[in-house]
Amino acid sequence: MTSLDVRSRFPGLSDGWVRFDGPAGTLPVDTSVDAIADYMRSPKPANLGGEFAATKASDEVVATARATVARFLGAEANQVVFGPSTTNLMFAFTRALSRHWEPGDRIVCTQLDHDSNVSPWLLAARDVGATVEFLEVDPIDGTLDVEPLKDLCADGRTRWVAISGASNLTGHAPDLARATAIAHEMGARILVDGVARVPHLPTNVAELGVDVLSTSPYKWYGPHAGVLVVRDNLLREVEPYRVRPADYDGPPRWETGTPQIELLAGITAAAEFMMETPLDMEAERETRLLARLQEGLHEISGVTVHAPSVTPDRAPTVIFTVAGHSPEEVDRYLASRKIAVWHGDNYACELIDALGLRSTGGAVRAGIVRYTTADDVDALLAALGELTSGK
Ligand SMILES: Cc1ncc(COP(=O)(O)O)c(C=O)c1O
Repeated sequence: MTSLDVRSRFPGLSDGWVRFDGPAGTLPVDTSVDAIADYMRSPKPANLGGEFAATKASDEVVATARATVARFLGAEANQVVFGPSTTNLMFAFTRALSRHWEPGDRIVCTQLDHDSNVSPWLLAARDVGATVEFLEVDPIDGTLDVEPLKDLCADGRTRWVAISGASNLTGHAPDLARATAIAHEMGARILVDGVARVPHLPTNVAELGVDVLSTSPYKWYGPHAGVLVVRDNLLREVEPYRVRPADYDGPPRWETGTPQIELLAGITAAAEFMMETPLDMEAERETRLLARLQEGLHEISGVTVHAPSVTPDRAPTVIFTVAGHSPEEVDRYLASRKIAVWHGDNYACELIDALGLRSTGGAVRAGIVRYTTADDVDALLAALGELTSGK
């Protein structure tokens, strides 16, 4: 399927805007929209776990979502936990984990991460007197070397390493296999924030061997929701905060309250869409477009790119600043041209600080996704060219 065919699958593109806001959330694919509406229009809506036809049909919707997401991520269905957002799940998960920590225990976070994989750890650690250390990025291009993890974990008190699967600002994807090997060797568990990674880079939980992976289906053409893939023994070992009757084994005891069953129907369709085109083929196309974008940005006088060079193992997201214009002004200017980007720190607080971009109001972010075309890239570059030349 060419990118032009793919575009016909996204009803949200009908207003003519050029969308580079994918890292903050993609448009939903048609089959995901239909699956949600179909469930809601059908006789299926009912709560879970009963004996009549509708409740059984709804149970089936949940089971199918778990199985499909598991297939997509190389996991087992009984490792897939759904929630309203990744951040929400992270707070619930870390709060439950911290009941097993002691004062002086250590958590390692990184300067690369979105705050969804930082604040939940900081607050959970604070509550029990554990400490949080940060693995630092290179201040020039924001890349993260995972080798120093060895020293950070050397005293054997590190319980968890919380690391980004790919940056939501620079697209940089650290060496997860190595980070996982070091964490495990040092007796720590590892949680990977896969939110900015899963839409672009092959991510197989079993092959990576990580303990937990987070991902948000609204970043891969599905509805607004969050997912944690948690290795089965952890789901059993860790006692979540939950209501007393919900004494089930496996994921449901982590899913407090009634899940958004209609959204799970949409998540199934989005995961199937992701599996329709092999990720490596799509990644090649996205990398080509990223190269076109990043090279074009380098050529515009006054534009500075704050990201590593373009390589296939990176997510196709880039940040830049424009001399003489704040990121907010650039964002507003592009919006006046019907081009959607984001600006600021996009919740990657430590990374913006490390790159020295806090005082300038962060940076402008543009991301390539499945419906991005070369014409979109050229439109963004042309608009920036006009802004900087004062046309
Ligand atoms: C890298 C990354 N991690 C985590 C999150 C938080 O995801 P959610 O909005 O599902 O809480 C985001 C959201 O933008 C993100 O980009």
